Amino acid sequence: MKFVITGGAGFIGSNYLHYVVNKYPDDEFICIDALTYAGNYNNIKDLSSMSNFKFIKANICDREKIIDIFKQEKPDYIINFAAESHVDNSIKNPNLFVETNIIGTMNLMNAARIIQDEGIHKIKRFHQVSTDEVYGDLPLDRPDLLFTENTPIHTSSPYSASKAGADLQVLAYARTYKLPVTISRCSNNYGPYQFPEKLIPVVISKALKDEPIPVYGTGENIRDWIHVYDHNVGIDLIVRNGKEGNIYNLGGHSEKTNLELVKIILKELNKPESLITFVTDRPGHDLRYAIDSTKVEKELGWTRTYSFEEGIKSTIEWYVQNQEWIDDIKSGKYKYSYEDNNEKE
Ligand code: NAD
Ligand code: DAU
Repeated sequence: MKFVITGGAGFIGSNYLHYVVNKYPDDEFICIDALTYAGNYNNIKDLSSMSNFKFIKANICDREKIIDIFKQEKPDYIINFAAESHVDNSIKNPNLFVETNIIGTMNLMNAARIIQDEGIHKIKRFHQVSTDEVYGDLPLDRPDLLFTENTPIHTSSPYSASKAGADLQVLAYARTYKLPVTISRCSNNYGPYQFPEKLIPVVISKALKDEPIPVYGTGENIRDWIHVYDHNVGIDLIVRNGKEGNIYNLGGHSEKTNLELVKIILKELNKPESLITFVTDRPGHDLRYAIDSTKVEKELGWTRTYSFEEGIKSTIEWYVQNQEWIDDIKSGKYKYSYEDNNEKE
């Protein structure tokens, strides 16, 4: 089977590729990525020697290029990780989030329809990698409440609104054009290769340099942390065995206030809590996310491999061992870049 994986040079997509390219030697994986500021070819360069892996630099907003790629490659499965993913950026530049997250997703689905309508190839599944943020937030004083797949969409940020818009288009394409789709909605991921704009890599990289650690508002906001490996195992199960037209929640069952999380990391790195600096809150800051994953556990047998304690320890260790990876990103001078081995575009 042939898989197109968009956004495979980013955090979750690159971890996904490392998981599946090795696990399924008889399947082919084609990574499409625009290599935006968040896409890093270094994250997947080791896969370029694998015969079942191919990288194509392309933007999912480039409608004609995506159609050409699909006509040529005839994918059976399309998994859309590509997105503008950072809430703070969406507050500064909301339009880009509509273009990439909604129009980009529609371009992929339209290309799948075109190759089917022209009798070239029929896809088996379009999977949209979505987020628990489409459900909005939960109050801090109701620990009994969790997001289920039936929780109404109620978005807070331009990011979450764009992801919800994409989800609604995916469901509309399923109903109107009978596109075989699934959607997964996951909570906050952590693990290797996370871009150093998100909380955990920000805290680790700043703590290692004894720099102040910015905590938004009071630090009481709660996130439900899941190791990226467990998220990707869930996506793989849903893509291969999930029911067409269904939405599946994936959560870490590991809620922490931001302040608790920062203190855990500082303790592990043997750094003082005096590095914590309270800064202006994020506008519209969601209070609490917490996911009920019962459906995917019961229907598809999904379980988490990592406890939070093991996962955060190994993640901190990875960032300590790979400080060059973050230094490369910050300096903009990559040890190895896509352009080194390919014609300049
Ligand atoms: P990321 O920002 O690390 O990576 C995004 C990738 O998409 C990058 O490689 C980037 O180059 C690529 N990309 C962006 N715009 C593109 C375009 N127009 N065309 C082609 N490629 C493009 O993001 P991430 O954290 O790995 O998130 C991946 C997906 O998972 C996103 O859809 C996000 O909404 C979703 N998600 C993330 C989390 C999380 O905690 N990070 C949780 C739930 C869901
Ligand atoms: O829940 C899933 C979502 O998780 C994904 O859909 C998003 O793509 C992903 O970015 C993430 O969104 P968050 O906004 O929750 O993640 P972030 O790491 O940006 O922030 C986590 C929490 O930490 C949030 O409450 C804001 C706070 N924060 C963040 C940063 C970067 C700080 O206090 N200080 C910081 O410097």
